[in-house]
Amino acid sequence: MKMKPYVHPEPLYPYREWSLEEESFADGENQRSESLFAVGNGYIGMRGNFEEGYHGTEGTSVNGNYLNGFYDAEPIIYPEGAYGYAVRNQAMLNVTDAKIIGLSVEGHAFHLNAGTVHRYKRTLDMRKGVLRRKVDWESPGGHRVSLVITRLASFGNKHLAAIHYEATALNFDGAITLSSAMEGSIARPPATDDPRLGAGSELPSLLPEGMDHDGAFSWMRQRTRHTRFALLSAMSHVLETPAGYGTNRKAADQRLTEEFSVPLRSGETVALTKYICYHTSKDYPEEELMPRTEELLRGAVHAGFRQLLAEQEAYLEEFWKRADVEIAGDPALQQGIRFNAFQLLQSVGRDGETNIGAKGLTGEGYEGHYFWDTEMYMLPFFTFTRPDIARSLLEFRYHTLGKARERAAIMSQKGALYPWRTIGGEENSSYFPAGTAQAHINADIAYAIRQYVLATGDTDFLVSQGAEILFETSRFWVDLGHFNPARGGSFCIDAVTGPDEYTAIVNNNAYTNLMVRSQLEYAASTADLLRGSYPEHYERLVRAIGLTEEEVRLWRKAAALMFVPSDERLGIIAQDDTFLSKEKWNFEQTPEDKYPLLLHFHPLVIYRHQVLKQADVVLALFLLGEQFTLEEKIRNYQYYEPLTTHDSSLSPCIHSIMSAEIGDLEGAYAYFDRTVRMDLDDINRNAKDGLHTAAMAGSWMSIINGFGGMRLRDGLLSFQPRLPSQWESCRFRIAFRGSLLEVRIGRESTLYTLLEGDALELLHMGLRVSLSPGQPASFSL
Ligand code: BGC
Repeated sequence: MKMKPYVHPEPLYPYREWSLEEESFADGENQRSESLFAVGNGYIGMRGNFEEGYHGTEGTSVNGNYLNGFYDAEPIIYPEGAYGYAVRNQAMLNVTDAKIIGLSVEGHAFHLNAGTVHRYKRTLDMRKGVLRRKVDWESPGGHRVSLVITRLASFGNKHLAAIHYEATALNFDGAITLSSAMEGSIARPPATDDPRLGAGSELPSLLPEGMDHDGAFSWMRQRTRHTRFALLSAMSHVLETPAGYGTNRKAADQRLTEEFSVPLRSGETVALTKYICYHTSKDYPEEELMPRTEELLRGAVHAGFRQLLAEQEAYLEEFWKRADVEIAGDPALQQGIRFNAFQLLQSVGRDGETNIGAKGLTGEGYEGHYFWDTEMYMLPFFTFTRPDIARSLLEFRYHTLGKARERAAIMSQKGALYPWRTIGGEENSSYFPAGTAQAHINADIAYAIRQYVLATGDTDFLVSQGAEILFETSRFWVDLGHFNPARGGSFCIDAVTGPDEYTAIVNNNAYTNLMVRSQLEYAASTADLLRGSYPEHYERLVRAIGLTEEEVRLWRKAAALMFVPSDERLGIIAQDDTFLSKEKWNFEQTPEDKYPLLLHFHPLVIYRHQVLKQADVVLALFLLGEQFTLEEKIRNYQYYEPLTTHDSSLSPCIHSIMSAEIGDLEGAYAYFDRTVRMDLDDINRNAKDGLHTAAMAGSWMSIINGFGGMRLRDGLLSFQPRLPSQWESCRFRIAFRGSLLEVRIGRESTLYTLLEGDALELLHMGLRVSLSPGQPASFSL
C-alpha cells in the first residue's frame, strides 16, 4: 500500500536537535516515555523509570533493568508438539532494580502525583550521554525542594551505571531523607495475546542467594531459575552534605536499603552519587564476581561522577564524528535520525558474545531476542560508522556457530542453520512457519559478512571466522535444496518462508533463492581466496569441518542453476512458486482498525492471499541491485508495493530506498518520514514495549542508501544523490576501509570530502572520482 503523506502530529515531545525533552509529566504516557528515555551502554539497559518509583493514577509502568545476553530459558509447553520444535524460550531478564532513590522532606515522600510540581523537565542528552531530570517540587506540607537527577550507563565500562541526585532546600530548614535501594524481586508483565510481546511467566526467574551491606558497598547475589547463571548486583554511595548526616541500613525481603538523613538549611544542597554495577557468571567465573565488583566500585568512587560525565561526553564526541547525520531545514527529522543513532549505540552489544535485540535494551517486546534484523538492518549502520562494533556483532554469529550446527542436525540437514530468534544461540521460535522456516537468515548473515569485509577490508575476520560461517551455511543450503528434474535440473529450495511473514512455507521464495545464489558464489570465491592466499587457514578448515573441493564445486553448480521464479506476462519476479496464483487481498474492504492483519486474522486466511507484511522481492531488489535493470526494478516495485501492508516496522525504510532509486522521491520521502520518527511520534502505538531498533537503523539506510543512493559497486563506494524537495541539505559520514568520507548533498551540488585516510576512489553518478585529503570534490546535481 502506498504510504499516505505523513501528517506530522502535534509533537509528543518538542523538536530538539540534540536531545529528547519532556516538560510536563502525564500518567497516561508514562510507559511510552519509559522506553524513549531509556539509558544504556550496550550491556546495561535501564528504562526511563523514575528513581522514586511510579505512583500513577492511570496508565501503567514497566520498571525495567536489563543486561544484554542475560536470560533465563523456560521450557516451551506445546499442547501439540512435534519433533524438532524449539524446546526452550530464552527471555531477556528484567533484573534487580538498583536505580531506586526515594526522597522525603519532613516526612512527605516525593512523587510527581503528590504535592505541587512547580517545574518539571527531563532531558535525554545525546551529546552528553545522560538522562537528566529537573524538578521543583513542593510537598503537601509546603516544603519546597529543587531536584537535579542525572543518570548514566557508562560507555567506558559496561558493568557500571551511576545516578547523581541533588536536592536543594528552597524554603525551609529541616530534614531531607534520601533512601537508596536495590530491589531483587521483580514482577514480570502479564502475558498478552500480542505475539510480539512474548509469553511471560508467573514464577520469578531470579532466585535469591544472599545479600548484605559490606563496608563500602551493598550487594545482592541471585541465580537464574533455569539457566543457573549467577548475577551479582551492587551499589555504593557517596554523599556530599553541608553538615553531617545520619545513616541507616536495612536488608529484608530481597531489598537492600541505605538511608541518609540530612539536615539542611534553606538554600543548601545535598548530593548523593550512587554507583551501580552488575556482573554475571556469563562474563566471568563466579568466584571473580565479588572481587571485580569491589574493584569497579572502588575505582568509580575514586574517579568521581564528574570524571564519568567527562568520559561519557568524550566517547560520544568520537561517536558523533562518524555517525552524525545532519538534515538542514527539518528539526523534527533531525531529532529523529539522531535519536535513532543514539539509541542504537545504547542497545548494541559489543563484546562478541552479545548482539542487539529487536527492541534493544529498552523493553521486553520480542523478549530481547536477536533476529535477522541485526544483519539486514542494524549492521550496515555499524559497518559504515563503527566497524569495530559491526565486527563484534558478526563475531557473535561465529561464537554461536556450534549451536547453529546442532540446529541443522536437528533439522536433518548438514552444515549450520542459524536460529530465527535467539539470545544464547539456540532456536527460540515456537511458531516455526514464521520462525525456523525463515532459513534465509543464513544467507542474510553471509550477505552481511560480505558487505562488512568489502567495506572494511577486514580479511582477518573473513579468514579466521567468516569463512567457516560461510562454508557451514553453504553446506546447509546445498543439502536443503535439490536439483529438480521437474524444473529442468534447476536448483530449488522448498518449504521455506521468506522475509514476508504473511506468506509461509513455500517453494522457491525468490528472495531466499537470490540471496542463497549470492552467498554460494561468495563462499566459493572465499574458498579460492583461502586456498590461494591463506593456505594454513584453508587446511585448518579442511581438517576442522572436513571441507572438500567437491563441495565447493557443488556450491558453484547450485548457484549457477539456481531457480528464480518469474512471471513472463507481468515481467516480474514471482515471490515464490505459488504466490501469483493466489487471490489478492481485498484492501478496499479492510478497515484501518484491522491492521496489523496479524492481530485480526488467522494466519491461514492471510497465507491464502497475495498480501505482504513487509518487503520481500523489493528487499532483494535493493540488496542485489546490480542484478536487475531499472525497468525490472520499477515493474517489480509497482507490483508488490500495492500489496504490502507494512505491518512490520522493517518495511517502510526499504520501500523508501527503492522508491528513491526508481525516481519517486515523494514516495521515498513519505516512507522515510514514517520510519525516522516511528517511536518519537509513537506511530505504531507500541513504543511502550520498547523501541523499534531495526526501523531506527532502517531510517539511517533510507538516508544513506535512499537519498544518498549509496551502494557498493566493484569494491567502491558509489553514490547517486537526490535531495528531497523538503530539505535544504543533508550531510553524513561513511567509514570505508580505514578512511572517513563526508558527503554533503545540497540543493545545487554534492560535496565529497576525505576527512581521514590518504586517498579514496568512489563513484559519483557512475563517474570515477579520486579524493585526496584537503581536496574536496564537488558536483552539481
Ligand atoms: C518481522 C520480522 C522481524 C521481527 C523482529 C517481525 O514483525 O516480520 O521480519 O524479524 O518482527 O523485529
